[in-house]
Amino acid sequence: MTRGFLDVTEAWNGESVVTAFDSATGAWIFVALHDTRLGPAAGGTRMASYPAPVDGLIDAMRLAEGMTWKWAGVGVRFGGGKAVIAIPDDLGDEARAGLVDRYAAHLVSLRGAFQTGVDMGTTPEDMARIGAISGYAVGLVDGKPGDPGPYTARGVLAGIRAALEHRFGEANFGGRAVLVQGLGDVGFPLAGLLAEAGATLHLTDLREEAARRAQTRFGGTVIPADGMWEVDADVYAPCAVGATLNPDTIPRLRCGIVAGSANNQLLSDADAERLRARGILYAPDYVINAGGAVAFSAIHRGERDETRLRARVDEIGSSLREMFEEAAGAGESPLHAARRRARRFLDAHGGPPPGAG
Ligand code: PHE
Repeated sequence: MTRGFLDVTEAWNGESVVTAFDSATGAWIFVALHDTRLGPAAGGTRMASYPAPVDGLIDAMRLAEGMTWKWAGVGVRFGGGKAVIAIPDDLGDEARAGLVDRYAAHLVSLRGAFQTGVDMGTTPEDMARIGAISGYAVGLVDGKPGDPGPYTARGVLAGIRAALEHRFGEANFGGRAVLVQGLGDVGFPLAGLLAEAGATLHLTDLREEAARRAQTRFGGTVIPADGMWEVDADVYAPCAVGATLNPDTIPRLRCGIVAGSANNQLLSDADAERLRARGILYAPDYVINAGGAVAFSAIHRGERDETRLRARVDEIGSSLREMFEEAAGAGESPLHAARRRARRFLDAHGGPPPGAG
């Protein structure tokens, strides 16, 4: 059964989606605003081609919800939102540039209801352009492109450390094997940080040359994408697309910890329980991957001190440590502890739902 736009919208728990069709390229633009009680929505813009436009809409909705939890979880007063630009497979560079400009104009028409940063398929240069046209790019310094990827990687490293400590009693990377899936904007710098910390790397990417590039820089072994479920590792770090943890894959995992940067790693919340039942420690994705959002929202508010930015990102490690302990004490998945923490912030600081009162 194919799900239509109206079914998908009816089933969603978010506030609204602003939809536009770019006739010059055939691209669909979906700006999903999930929960704006904490403030105007902010989140990345993902650009990708999907089997059908409605799949882009579904992705935008799921990612927007992830941003609601992410901002609330780190105590930043932005609402949860995300944009997806569903592009045709054969979009050329020139057509893409025009599309980015028209997307920026679209954000102007929304007058700040959505502010954005990079996500899969968009670049810091795109954001500089979008910022110049619209003023609605988060975290630009003097209009210059900035890359949140290294901050996200730093947060993931702090999170993996906390997970190692909780699971194995020591935060030491020596002799620990980490499987990094996806050597992109976050996975690549993460591999560098892990190598520096003394971890043994297993690298896999659908584009094998990306894994090879990381191997040349940081060492480790390259694993073919279809062979990754056969690899024994202490940590599996998903750093690419979502939903890699599901009822089919969880029984096949050969790791003690899942801790990576991908958004929406679980196909559904029930998968958190499946991981727990297998004794695998799961670092909730929107907590461990919040480093870029944390750093860029702080930059947005005027923070320029690199040491302080890094310290804020490193707090992700201590937050996770607390969640792991709380969850272990309650005999539940860390996902629940993370959700409670985010809810507390939303309840304490969120205004009334739009339209209420
Ligand atoms: N794309 C980032 C994420 O998924 C969000 C982000 C928002 C990054 C704003 C930079 C600025 O977390």
